[in-house]
Amino acid sequence: MPAVSVSSADRVFVLTGAGVSAESGLPTFRAEDGLWAGFRVEDVCTPDAWRRDPAAVWAFYSARRAQGQSAKPNPAHLALAELEAQIPSRFFLCTQNVDDLHERAGSANLIHMHGELAKSRCEHECGSPPVEDRAVYAGLDDVPRCACGGRLRPHIVFFGEIPFEMPRIEREISLSTLMLVVGTSGNVYPAANFVHWARQAGARTVYIGPERPLNAPAFTEIVEGKAGEVMPGLFRIDN
Ligand code: OAD
Repeated sequence: MPAVSVSSADRVFVLTGAGVSAESGLPTFRAEDGLWAGFRVEDVCTPDAWRRDPAAVWAFYSARRAQGQSAKPNPAHLALAELEAQIPSRFFLCTQNVDDLHERAGSANLIHMHGELAKSRCEHECGSPPVEDRAVYAGLDDVPRCACGGRLRPHIVFFGEIPFEMPRIEREISLSTLMLVVGTSGNVYPAANFVHWARQAGARTVYIGPERPLNAPAFTEIVEGKAGEVMPGLFRIDN
């Protein structure tokens, strides 16, 4: 397989999706047996669902917390951490994933644009910061309240909410010369647009995954295969 060359002039922006964690045993969303197969997004991942039925929302995210407890980083997470270690000041990782497998693999400069499963925050904009929370709640009565009286909600970006840190993400994309996108189907915006923004900024754009994403035509290169199999040794650093 031809290597992806990273030169001393390159600034690398990485976007990952559920596919990067698939080989760690975490299901993707849109596969036939994926996370959305047993759920309607509107019932568990929208502000309206939270207002209508917070118990159903917590049941979904509690189940995901339980499922993630035994997951470990796979060779794809490790390959990205290794790439960052080689070019730390020219590397930025943006993940759509809410698991913490990138951190546990050693990635440091990263943003969780769709939130983090291991955190909760007040349902109101009361100014309290998100808190570490890995609890698997058996029912709504177990879910703590914030000092302001609001219920804690998962620190997850629901559909219809704006992803976190968009200004920083946009700035990093505009500076990048190489965009690597790993394991995301290109269904969800604004993430599906990042490749177009990178192309407009003149960057090379490489997709890594076993299937072509919806936005495949926007990539200058596609590396076909499972991320954990094709990523170790994929990058050639020319410093
Ligand atoms: P999807 O489930 O839509 O897509 C997962 C992608 O991973 C597919 O394109 C698969 O081909 C690919 N894939 C599967 N196994 C892989 C492997 N071993 N290596 C590499 N790729 C593999 O998940 P996302 O695109 O991440 O948002 O979904 C985007 C967002 O939609 C999620 O962040 C989530 C979801 O609704 C929120 O919850 C806000």
